[in-house]
Amino acid sequence: MAATAAALCLAVVGPVLAQAPDDPLPAGPGKDVVVRVCTACHDATQFAFARLTPDEWDSEVTKMQGAGAEMTAEEQVAITAYLAKNFPKPAPGAPSDAKGPSGR
Ligand code: HEC
Repeated sequence: MAATAAALCLAVVGPVLAQAPDDPLPAGPGKDVVVRVCTACHDATQFAFARLTPDEWDSEVTKMQGAGAEMTAEEQVAITAYLAKNFPKPAPGAPSDAKGPSGR
C-alpha cells in the first residue's frame, strides 16, 4: 500500500522535477526574456555557470549585442537584472554563513 502511494506521488511530482536538468535558469522575472534572447545562439549552459557582478553582467550582455544579440533597451535591463539576481558574484570577503546576520 505504501509503495503504491509513493508511486502515485512520484507520478504527480515527476513531470515537474523532470524539467530541472535541462533548464539551468531559475524561474523569476525576466527569465522569459533571457530564454528568448540569450538562447538563440547558444544554450543557457553557456552563461548559467557564470557568477558576475551587475556591472560585469551588463558588459557581458553588451558584448553579446556586439555578437549580434537583438534586444530592446527594456529587454536589456530585464536581462541584466535577471542575471545579476540569479547569478551574482559572491562579494569578496563577505561574512561567511557561520557568522550570520545576527552576530550580536
Ligand atoms: C547572436 C548570437 C548570440 C546571442 C543572441 C547571445 N550570444 Fe552569448 N555568445 C555568442 C557567441 C558566438 C559566443 C562565443 C564567443 C567566444 O567564444 O568568443 C558567446 C558566448 C557567451 C558567453 C561566454 C563568455 C564569453 O564572453 O565568451 C556568455 C557568458 C554569453 N555568451 C552570454 C550571453 C547572454 C547573457 C546572452 C543574452 C543577452 C547571449 N549570450 C546571447 C553569441 C550570442
